[in-house]
Formats: sequence, structure tokens, C-alpha cells
Amino acid sequence: MEIVIADAATPEMVDAFNRLIAQLSSSARPLTLGTLTDIVTAPHNTVFVARDPADGGRIVGMLTLVMFRIPTALRAWIEDVVVDASARGRGVGEALTLAAVRRARDGGAKTVDLTSNRSREAAHRLYEKVGFRVRETSVYRYGAKPGA
Ligand SMILES: CC(C)(COP(=O)(O)OP(=O)(O)OC[C@H]1O[C@@H](n2cnc3c(N)ncnc32)[C@H](O)[C@@H]1OP(=O)(O)O)[C@@H](O)C(=O)NCCC(=O)NCCS
Repeated sequence: MEIVIADAATPEMVDAFNRLIAQLSSSARPLTLGTLTDIVTAPHNTVFVARDPADGGRIVGMLTLVMFRIPTALRAWIEDVVVDASARGRGVGEALTLAAVRRARDGGAKTVDLTSNRSREAAHRLYEKVGFRVRETSVYRYGAKPGA
């Protein structure tokens, strides 16, 4: 599997990302070329793409790393990790996550965080396997219904 950092958005990426987003969220709106360009070129974002060389380089996974400087430290968040259902169980998610962690560390991030819904058992096993541990903290979302 090939993990690359996207430096520009293309129509191929838009199609692939929309296919992947649908496997993560039922409420997210589809990306356009313009939105994906904004995401890929935003200075704080690094967008990782997994391509399958055995399938003509088809995009089978994505992950976005966000790095930002706040008063306490340079920090990193991993967001929107998805591997296409057809390519799961082959190490793609692990390769994407490790690539993001390496990039965050190389960039000087003091911490690398992520959130994951309790129902996402495969994701939790993946994150634990590569070294993430659950923190005793609370995640708040403004205006959300309790438990949502
Ligand atoms: C979570 C997800 C990204 C994992 O991707 P993947 O490429 O299938 O994962 P990998 O093949 O790299 O697996 C790495 C490790 O994760 C764990 N894992 C992956 N799939 C699993 C499953 N179905 N059940 C239990 N553990 C699983 C295992 O520990 C695995 O290591 P192992 O193969 O040595 O046992 C993928 O299932 C997915 O996209 N799910 C839907 C979207 C989602 O939940 N994203 C995460 C948002 S927080």
C-alpha cells in the first residue's frame, strides 16, 4: 500500500473522498473540488491518501492531520480516518495512522490526539495497537444533545 501526502486536489480525489466520507458520516456534505482544494492547501492540514498499487493506484483510504500552535504547545489532531470497505483488514488504516504520527512528531508536535465514537471497535483496536491510549478527559460539543 502506498501512503502519500496530497499536495493538490483532483477530481479523482473528490470522487474517492466522497466515497470514503459516506462510510464515516451520514450527515457530512459531499466535497467539491473547491472545498477539497481548501482542505489540502490549508497550512495546518496534512492530507494523507492511501493508494493500492495492486488496483491501479486506486484511492482506498484517507486521513487528515491538523497541527496547530496554541499557548501550551504545538499540538496535532488526527481526523476523518477511513479505509474503503473493500480494502479493510490489510494494514491500510495502520499505515495511514503511523504516517500521520510520524509527521506530527517530525513537525514538533508535543501531543497527537484523536476522538472516536465508542461504537467504533475496529478503530479503537487500531489506535490502541499503534500506541494511542484513552485519556480521562471529556469531549464537549456546543449545543449537542446529551450523548450525541
Ligand atoms: C477503522 C478502520 C480505519 C481500520 O482500517 P483497516 O485498514 O481495516 O485497519 P488495519 O487493517 O490497518 O488494522 C490495524 C489493526 O486495527 C485493528 N482492527 C482493524 N479492523 C478490525 C476489526 N474489524 N475488528 C477488530 N480489530 C480491527 C486490529 O488490531 C488490526 O491489527 P491486526 O490486523 O494486526 O489485528 C476502518 O475499519 C474504517 O474505515 N472504518 C469505518 C470508518 C471509521 O470507523 N473510521 C475511524 C473513525 S475514528
